[in-house]
Amino acid sequence: MLPPKKGRIPSRIAMNCLWRVLAIFLPFLPSTLSLQPAQARVLLVSFDGFRWDYIYKASTPNFHYAMENGVHVKQVTNIFITKTYPNHYTMVTGLYAESHGVVANEMYDPILNETFSLNKMEVYNSKFWEEATPIWITNQREGHKTGAAMWPGTDVKIHGAFPTYYMPYDFAVSFEDRVARLIDWFTSEEPINFGLLYWEQPDQMGHILGPENPLMGPVISDIDKKLGYLVSELKKAKLWDVVNVIITSDHGMSQSSSERLIELDQYVNRELYEVIEQSPVVAILPKEGKLDEVYEALANAHPNMTVYKKEQIPDRLHYKHNSRIQPILAVADEGWEILHKKSDGFQPGNHGYDNILPEMHPIFLAFGPAFRKNATKEAMNSTDLYPLLCHLLGINPLPNNGSFNAVKDILAEEVPFGADTYATVVGVFLGSFLVMVFIAVFVKHFILVQANTMQMQHTEAAQPLLQD
Ligand SMILES: *[C@@H]1O[C@H](CO)[C@@H](O)[C@H](O)[C@H]1NC(C)=O
Ligand SMILES: *[C@@H]1O[C@H](CO)[C@@H](O)[C@H](O)[C@H]1NC(C)=O
Ligand SMILES: *[C@@H]1O[C@H](CO)[C@@H](O)[C@H](O)[C@H]1NC(C)=O
Ligand SMILES: *[C@@H]1O[C@H](CO)[C@@H](O)[C@H](O)[C@H]1NC(C)=O
Ligand SMILES: *[C@@H]1O[C@H](CO)[C@@H](O)[C@H](O)[C@H]1NC(C)=O
Ligand SMILES: [Zn+2]
Repeated sequence: MLPPKKGRIPSRIAMNCLWRVLAIFLPFLPSTLSLQPAQARVLLVSFDGFRWDYIYKASTPNFHYAMENGVHVKQVTNIFITKTYPNHYTMVTGLYAESHGVVANEMYDPILNETFSLNKMEVYNSKFWEEATPIWITNQREGHKTGAAMWPGTDVKIHGAFPTYYMPYDFAVSFEDRVARLIDWFTSEEPINFGLLYWEQPDQMGHILGPENPLMGPVISDIDKKLGYLVSELKKAKLWDVVNVIITSDHGMSQSSSERLIELDQYVNRELYEVIEQSPVVAILPKEGKLDEVYEALANAHPNMTVYKKEQIPDRLHYKHNSRIQPILAVADEGWEILHKKSDGFQPGNHGYDNILPEMHPIFLAFGPAFRKNATKEAMNSTDLYPLLCHLLGINPLPNNGSFNAVKDILAEEVPFGADTYATVVGVFLGSFLVMVFIAVFVKHFILVQANTMQMQHTEAAQPLLQD
């Protein structure tokens, strides 16, 4: 048998000390890690066509409850064109329409020679979505799970993937059923960190009634009850304190009138062109060789219709650099409609107009642990939502047209660095601390070994004290 090594007992003591130190700090480790946004959960909700000022036009106690418990951004500048698909894709990509490629609800791509149509529910051609990568795909690539309840594009295969969980689009599925699925996904054994919820109202009723119609009051109050239902279900599922909820919309709504109709047939033969996207922003594809003729006929036709050749579209609209934007764009002034002829009929409410117009702007509320309480912010761009979501989810944003800096003031705690830097600082701090503990233990160990060698006879006496 080998004689026992001299340093053996002190080495055991050293390990013992180290474990004790770790045992003291181990309980703090989870709370240190939870500072990283990686564990945060986010629910993004869109009530289609909920104009920013609807909350002042009807009784909306649940919206006001959410505002007191969170942040209200009063003016959100959405993107041109102020229609449903372009804006929903901006919220999940941070890109202008010309950059994400979903430039309208009705599209023709001359390179693909293919069409996309919300009216005909022909929206499942992946190619129309793949000029960008939506946030749910990035979230999943970074190891998280997403659940989507009928958000536009979430039942389309994009870059080979769907959301982890999703509901195929069916307008007949109730709001309550959509909420129930999301609650299931957030509380399942392998929970999602990101949920998306879409509801068709008040857009549909806004088109049918017009936003100035007094009957819109009950429609808005119904949305308020739906928000109340969502809040109560979150509380019931014990998610209220842990999920960050953003309530927003794609666009507002403006009142149309039979006094404000522009008839294209009065100015140009309809055999010379095709209408791709509809009023009030009409995308015109002239027949072969007819571009100048159609443009000249329409350019100064009506004082309330601005007609651009594609290359003349103002830069501020960020609506030019995409082959799906047609050679001519006719934009009506607010409240005006562009038709072939009056008898085609029009909707009492419509949207799509210039995104500078307040009536086109959506609601924006945010509440949950990450956000300030009972706070307001004057203005933001809807492109900023994407970097904000990425920050909350702790994922890396892809190149986009938004700015996290522009919206970080709605967060509860000022984060001095970016999320990644922050996690790194915590990591480095923790790492250095452990290294220091190791050095301390090693030095102690070394001293003990020395002491051992020199004073073998005292080891037995010292042991009980050190082992305590
Ligand atoms: C585009 O597709 C249509 C059928 O959808 C076809 O009739 C037409 O010839 C195609 N045009 C070109 C230029 O390929
Ligand atoms: C319609 O055009 C007239 C004449 O240019 C102008 O005074 C009016 O402001 C326009 N309407 C809107 C809603 O811009
Ligand atoms: C929210 O803020 C307003 C003033 O900005 C104040 O009057 C109100 O009492 C606050 N509500 C709560 C619940 O703190
Ligand atoms: C919106 O974006 C534009 C262009 O980047 C910028 O000039 C403007 O300040 C932004 N608005 C807000 C409220 O952040
Ligand atoms: C928007 O972002 C995309 C992706 O980074 C970029 O290619 C494009 O130039 C940006 N648009 C503007 C107007 O900055
Ligand atoms: Zn609509």
